[in-house]
Amino acid sequence: MTNFFNGPVPEFDDHIRKSIPTVDAMYDLCQGVTYALSQERTRVVDLGCSTGKFLRDTLKRATTTYIGVDFVDWQWEKTPRVTFRQEDALTFLRDGGAKDTSVVLSLCTLQFMPFSKRNEVIRRVYDWLVEGGIFILAEKVHLPSAGVSEVVERSLIQWKRKNFTDAEILDKSVKLAKSMRRNTFEGLYTTMQEHFDSVNIVWANGAFVCMVGVK
Ligand SMILES: C[S@@+](CC[C@H](N)C(=O)[O-])C[C@H]1O[C@@H](n2cnc3c(N)ncnc32)[C@H](O)[C@@H]1O
Repeated sequence: MTNFFNGPVPEFDDHIRKSIPTVDAMYDLCQGVTYALSQERTRVVDLGCSTGKFLRDTLKRATTTYIGVDFVDWQWEKTPRVTFRQEDALTFLRDGGAKDTSVVLSLCTLQFMPFSKRNEVIRRVYDWLVEGGIFILAEKVHLPSAGVSEVVERSLIQWKRKNFTDAEILDKSVKLAKSMRRNTFEGLYTTMQEHFDSVNIVWANGAFVCMVGVK
């Protein structure tokens, strides 16, 4: 798949907040869940960490290690307690980078990976997690009803017009079409259920959904 992220996107964190309604609430919730369910002397890994803002702003446990992974060099600013690695997420997992993790995050990252690799990412995350560890997964999905999906997409475009011009919305949609492919909600949820003891939907807005799989 062509990569939408050929290099750092200027003002990316602001851009994502202007593109996904109520996404700040999702980040707040995920940071709270990360702190509460991370375990001492383990790792927390953010796959597709982009600028690193999520880990930078997350409350840290004293003996936990924090690692952000992204295949783009986002020229990360030095961040106390956080290590950033420029690497493909699946290569990182295959090489054991997520060994002894208690929290792994993939916030809108899987949707940029080839379908053929997505199940392997989920399986390897599960394998590396310690007992009681969690996988926090957020994605834009295809909703089961075409009718509902159509209304939701139109409403999203309407909402984005507060922040972008019509040309900007259309241009981004054309660019994203080259590299982003959505899972069906059912397919993603079923794959998560096949691996994890429980799968918990913790946030959703339109076609954006965030779930937590518990090992
Ligand atoms: C939509 S952004 C989400 C960023 C961040 N998780 C957030 O919520 O703000 C997707 C990120 O995933 C990264 N990415 C996509 N495919 C990747 C892969 N195979 N390995 C590592 N990073 C990847 C992109 O470079 C980009 O930074």
